Amino acid sequence: MFSSLAIAAGLACAPMFGGAAPATAGAATGPVAVAPSPDKRTFIDDLVGRMTLDEKIGQLRLISIGPEMPAAKLMEEITAGRVGGTFNSVTRADNRPLQQAATRSRLKIPMFFAYDVVHGHRTVFPISLALASSWDMGVVEKAARISGQEAAADGLDATFAPMVDISRDPRWGRTSEGFGEDPFMVSQCARASVKGFQGTSPANADSVMAFVKHFALYGAVEGGRDYNTVDMSPQRMYQDYLPPYRAGLEAGAGGVMIALNSINGQPATSNKWLLRDLLRKEWGFKGVTVSDHGAIDELLRHGVASNGREAARLAIEAGVDMSMADTRYLEQLPTLVKSGAVPVALIDEAVREVLGAKYDMGLFQDPFRRIGAAAQDPADVNAESRLHRAEAREAARKSMVLLENRNQTLPLKKAGKVAVIGPLADAPIDIMGSWSAAGVAKQSVTLLQGMREALAGKGEVLYARGANITDDNRVVGYLNFLNWDNPEVVQDKRSSGEMIEEAVRVARDADVVVVAAGETRGMSHEASSRSSLGLPGSQQTLLKALRSTGKPLVLVLMNGRPLTINWEKDNVDAILETWYAGTEGGHAIADLLFGDENPSGKLPITFPRSLGQIPTYYNALRIGRPFTPGKAPNYTSQYFEEDYGPLYPFGYGLSYTTFSLSEVRLSDRKLARQAKLTASVTVKNTGARAGETVVQLYLQDVTASVVRPVKELKDFRKVMLAPGESRTIEFPIDENMLKFYNAKLEHVAEPGDFNVQVGLDSESVKTAIFTLE
Ligand code: BGC
Repeated sequence: MFSSLAIAAGLACAPMFGGAAPATAGAATGPVAVAPSPDKRTFIDDLVGRMTLDEKIGQLRLISIGPEMPAAKLMEEITAGRVGGTFNSVTRADNRPLQQAATRSRLKIPMFFAYDVVHGHRTVFPISLALASSWDMGVVEKAARISGQEAAADGLDATFAPMVDISRDPRWGRTSEGFGEDPFMVSQCARASVKGFQGTSPANADSVMAFVKHFALYGAVEGGRDYNTVDMSPQRMYQDYLPPYRAGLEAGAGGVMIALNSINGQPATSNKWLLRDLLRKEWGFKGVTVSDHGAIDELLRHGVASNGREAARLAIEAGVDMSMADTRYLEQLPTLVKSGAVPVALIDEAVREVLGAKYDMGLFQDPFRRIGAAAQDPADVNAESRLHRAEAREAARKSMVLLENRNQTLPLKKAGKVAVIGPLADAPIDIMGSWSAAGVAKQSVTLLQGMREALAGKGEVLYARGANITDDNRVVGYLNFLNWDNPEVVQDKRSSGEMIEEAVRVARDADVVVVAAGETRGMSHEASSRSSLGLPGSQQTLLKALRSTGKPLVLVLMNGRPLTINWEKDNVDAILETWYAGTEGGHAIADLLFGDENPSGKLPITFPRSLGQIPTYYNALRIGRPFTPGKAPNYTSQYFEEDYGPLYPFGYGLSYTTFSLSEVRLSDRKLARQAKLTASVTVKNTGARAGETVVQLYLQDVTASVVRPVKELKDFRKVMLAPGESRTIEFPIDENMLKFYNAKLEHVAEPGDFNVQVGLDSESVKTAIFTLE
């Protein structure tokens, strides 16, 4: 953490752990193990001074609850003071005995309990990529706030989120977990999420500590293949990939999870430059670092350590405080210290960070502050009353992007017969998206259910599955690999011909056809890299058959990454990108399809035309032979077999109304250092219904000492306008917004001209120019 949150949280006036056991907790009573002190540093120094080497090493262990360690052994280890924290146990009843065991240990150091609460806990919010599509930081913060509150109410102290890896290669399955391709947008979302999870302090009983991940550059794995290598220039790191992590830490995140990948030849987990020079020295980070799952062990497979002893030494030297789901610290650190190969000071340093994080979580004040008293445990952890359905529905409505709407096919009338078809139309697991924490599929509203409720008493919903998600058994096998007993992807036994025949029959009987297609959630997950980005063949065949009925055809996409939907763009009447919309997804989609709410999302990531076109991120560096629209493409930078440019650009998204944008007006043509100028535009709702749009400010440095991007997002405003209403938006511009990392990695704004580009997406922009003096 950058500031001393614990002290700000007023821990000084509260009883310190070790006194009378909290009445609520049922904790072990006993002598005060640690002298209470209002000062975090004194408190921790004192505590570290009393610890044995084994106890210190125990604090560095972060254990996954599950097969990794049998319950009885776990209790024994905790009581012996050999566990710092656990993850994956998610109820107060489960965590209470573990914390009680910790309070029976010699020094009574509390444990912390963590979980991957990424986009919801009991209530599942839309995936992060969807939340970013809202371009509304209030939505992002609220989703994290509620997720944090729900997690804390289940006895959790920390979340391994937000995930703020910039992703510019949609082949990467974890694209769904992050906030897209743009440094400014992802940084904004990082700040909003951390604020949401931690609230005013991670010490609050209704907050959890945020662990920003995956540090660093995980989204840039070569070829989008998970866990692959990252090789990147320092300029690109500093300019594009590092800012979101830093933004999350500046917002007060107490923890950092270290990435699995290597960076320029050194795994992040053994990377002194990354963890010591950059994170600690340059950025001043004062919180705790944890390795990713098994990453210390993986130093052997990376080939930078020849045995476990070396792996543990490299990691502790690099600055990995806690080892996650890995036994190397436990097994190797005692002898490494005793032999003098690792100075005990290094262990103490790591232990201090772990204890500091627990202090900041408020756990020394009361280890049971989130677990509470057994008498108050929820009778049913999945009780409806514990969900935040209204907030999830609102977030989902704001997160969807209308990609096409020919002949105003949408919104639909609440009348007549609507055919709801597709392998994802009634898929309660998939609509939650990956990393859906403690979400329960049977509580999520599917599209079919949402449509039925919306049309009840007014019209009729017809249903056919139409196709399996894919007919490729190899893919189904992959997706079900980890859960054969309870497979997520359950294939309809009928032949594809039979299913399509039924779907066509249903479609012919309907007034309009709504097809839910895309990816199962497992297809957009960790380790789910794809080598093609189209809809699987079974679904394409279904769409083509339905197109041939001549009925109006609406495609509802459910997916966690950009897809190459060229045929669909040209052949279906409307496309709504819903990502994975969460617990209330089906309601929210119906709200948009029937026009109870006007779509307002914009893409936080570019949609390519083809796999071969990747990367297609909008803020590319300028080049010497750019393609120029309207001119012959020869000897310019493009792919000659297809049109230039993306299928859908960054920042794009339609509404049921239309908007116009005025020319850009600048308050001045010259900008002095330390001064400000204002770029203003007037946006008007030129259609017949109220709606929201996002006015986006991009800047381009015309000439600089190094090559600069064609444009970069610098600010945006989401505005709601009544029909016919206009609003003037003012964007202040100052020197700081013009800064970039030069060849010496100095953050500078160089004098000269800057193009201002303002648009309702990143491509169609109005421009003006000013000079920085
Ligand atoms: C993932 C992390 C996650 C961790 C714990 C790893 O496989 O890379 O993002 O936090 O597991 O569940």
